[in-house]
Amino acid sequence: MPSRDLNGARTLVLGGSGVLGNLIAQRLLDRGGKVMLAARDRARLQQQATALAPDVPSVEFDLQEPHHVDHVVRTAVAGLGGLDGVVNAAGVVAFGPLEDLSDAALDELVATDLVGPLRVIRSALPHLQGGFVVNISGVVAERPTAGMAAYSAVKAGLSAATLALGRELRRQGITVLDARPPHTETGLAQRPISGAAPAMPAGLDPGFVAGVIVGGIESGARELPPEAFATS
Ligand SMILES: NC(=O)c1ccc[n+]([C@@H]2O[C@H](COP(=O)([O-])OP(=O)(O)OC[C@H]3O[C@@H](n4cnc5c(N)ncnc54)[C@H](OP(=O)(O)O)[C@@H]3O)[C@@H](O)[C@H]2O)c1
Repeated sequence: MPSRDLNGARTLVLGGSGVLGNLIAQRLLDRGGKVMLAARDRARLQQQATALAPDVPSVEFDLQEPHHVDHVVRTAVAGLGGLDGVVNAAGVVAFGPLEDLSDAALDELVATDLVGPLRVIRSALPHLQGGFVVNISGVVAERPTAGMAAYSAVKAGLSAATLALGRELRRQGITVLDARPPHTETGLAQRPISGAAPAMPAGLDPGFVAGVIVGGIESGARELPPEAFATS
């Protein structure tokens, strides 16, 4: 028996226009949940929301802008009639030696992959009694990788914060899940904010990864290490 029934669960999906975020949103809807998608690009958001179902709401926001944080949470609470979960599937990646990384790219990584999500979660917490939070940190959080020093750092930070938060919020009945999937074929590696991806073996199927993450929410898991995504 799953420990959490997602039927009726109202979830804000950060990065809901992205590949993993959209696939997770689809699975939440399939289980009878309600979702609101959030990201920067309005046209892509609306296109992805409509592709899920005709009445899926979306909200534009930028994780780099602290003043967007309360707005995105308020909009989700108003649009969904409350909030039971936050899934953070937003993120950017950068490749290459640290010496080639600009201040702007460093700042974007820190704001988008670490500080921004923590601000949104902090703002959402008063609404989440008994609910859930998911952060997708990634395999680099536990296996820091050459050519990805800053990305490894922000993802390790997000993973540590997620695990600590899980302990902090246990008494409030809020389940916090740190998902650390290996490389997945979403195209993220081809859209870096800096540098170019090294040659990598084929990644995981995004639908499979989204399914494991939603299964983790249902089972009340607190972490999904890379091994949880093994296909054989
Ligand atoms: N793909 C992999 O191999 C892999 C492996 C492990 C972990 N992850 C993590 O999984 C998450 C989802 O990745 P994905 O592969 O699905 O990538 P994706 O398809 O590129 O999705 C990224 C999402 O984040 C949003 N986003 C980016 N910057 C943002 C900002 N400043 N404010 C708000 N939203 C922002 C994007 O929309 P806009 O650009 O319109 O804002 C998009 O919706 C990321 O955190 C990634 O690090 C991915």
